[in-house]
Amino acid sequence: MPSLAIKAVLAAVAGAASVSAHGHVRNIVINGLSYQGFDINTFPYMQNPPKVAGWTATNTDNGFVGPESFAAADIICHKSATNAGGHAVVAAGDKVFIQWDTWPESHKGPVIDYLANCGAAGCETADKTSLQFFKIDEVGLIDGSKAPGTWGSDQLIANNNSWLVEIPPTIAPGFYVLRHEIIALHSAGQANGAQNYPQCFNLQVTGGGSASPAGVKGQSLYTANDAGILVNIYQALTSYKVPGPALAAGAVSIAQAASKITASATATTGSAAATAAPVTAPAVATTSSAAVVVPTTLATSKAAATTSTTIAAVPVTTKPATTPITSATKAATTSTKAAAAPATTSVISCPGTIVAPAPKPAAVPDRGGKGPRSHPRDITLN
Ligand SMILES: *[C@@H]1O[C@H](CO)[C@@H](O)[C@H](O)[C@H]1NC(C)=O
Repeated sequence: MPSLAIKAVLAAVAGAASVSAHGHVRNIVINGLSYQGFDINTFPYMQNPPKVAGWTATNTDNGFVGPESFAAADIICHKSATNAGGHAVVAAGDKVFIQWDTWPESHKGPVIDYLANCGAAGCETADKTSLQFFKIDEVGLIDGSKAPGTWGSDQLIANNNSWLVEIPPTIAPGFYVLRHEIIALHSAGQANGAQNYPQCFNLQVTGGGSASPAGVKGQSLYTANDAGILVNIYQALTSYKVPGPALAAGAVSIAQAASKITASATATTGSAAATAAPVTAPAVATTSSAAVVVPTTLATSKAAATTSTTIAAVPVTTKPATTPITSATKAATTSTKAAAAPATTSVISCPGTIVAPAPKPAAVPDRGGKGPRSHPRDITLN
């Protein structure tokens, strides 16, 4: 029999899943400039919504995309997503601060970021089903010693419901879709229980290098049986494999911090200017005050990065800000978590106690219960 506490958890999970408690990305901040996202609370009801850097989507119900849709177009940039009408300008090596309006604590799971190159015509007209995404950031399980664990999503909440991601300094300049995603795992112990919340933004990346990392189509990022998708988080976990491809070369999951807004910026539209002058485009292409501020060299971008300030309240644990389980090489992120965070390549352990209904805690293996052993690697229980 479930205890009262467990019943409370069950109720909370059920409630969170059905009540509109999920969040949306309100805006992104690049070197102090805030670019509005797709405002799902108002834009769908406007005759002429403004052109912003955020892709449109129809998830006005605060819903998610589930594993049954992993091979469909909705997984790319959320439900029935269409291209953003504009883009934000960012120098390679700079950081993008992605601000959600809220995120429920119960919806624990990894935070992941990808880029996909749209080509010279830009991302406003790109065919989303052809985009090839490469991973630039991932933070999964931070501490699994006490179920349901501390996750990237908890770090996002602690960072004022926001996430800081670095655009790899090595990638070639051009137009990219930034695919930012939280995967909620509170029901992921059962088949098709994971909940993906992707959000996309158009970026024009300036400066940088020449790298063009190989990517995979959005429809090929995940499968329903991935170790990081079908997983029961209501038991102690020693490792967790963030789903999707490995981090691209040159990509690093950086320490989470706040990024102060100093001005609003309007999304730039069109690709003509950038096509004419791909490397030094920002000053030309930007129609807002961004032109003044956007760094055009790596040197200035480093200086600009100091506008980010670490938030006092950030750490979910008492450890320094980020504890990516990746093999992140940045000095700021390496020192902390080595012991509890074996490797990105380790496959999640498969304790025999996994049962299908996720909220069921790790009590006694419930073999007589209705939960089928849905985890593919669970062969026998002891
Ligand atoms: C947290 O984010 C909100 C907007 O989402 C902002 O108004 C507020 O100032 C932020 N708080 C801090 C401490 O940065």
